[in-house]
Amino acid sequence: MPLVYLTRVERFNAAHKLWVDDWSEEKNFEEFGKCANKNWHGHNYTLLVTVKGSPDPITGFVIDAKYLSKLIREHITDKLDHCNLNLDVDFIPKGTQATTENLCIIIWQQLQTKLQNCRLHCIKLIETENIYAEYYGE
Ligand code: NI
Repeated sequence: MPLVYLTRVERFNAAHKLWVDDWSEEKNFEEFGKCANKNWHGHNYTLLVTVKGSPDPITGFVIDAKYLSKLIREHITDKLDHCNLNLDVDFIPKGTQATTENLCIIIWQQLQTKLQNCRLHCIKLIETENIYAEYYGE
């Protein structure tokens, strides 16, 4: 059966701060730059969820993209949008650095159990026009 990759794009806006309590303010800014700003700051995130599977012989879909969108919104973006990623989100463990990398892993873990008839292939999260991370479940 041919294997096809389908990607759905969703967006959310959220606040965070990257910080290590044991470090000095100077070291935090050296490591994290403006993402260490004490009073938080936001990013406009773009989330790309790629699934893989074979097109259904009747619908031609790997997954109904509208249904995939609903799953992503319900389980991920509605819960992250306009939130503080360090404080507000029940599925982000306290103390987790809310980096693009860690968010990819957490989003993968949240979504993978929700899919039927296709498998998660990649979570790609774009934080700024210059930075994005991808996670393939390894
Ligand atoms: Ni930041």
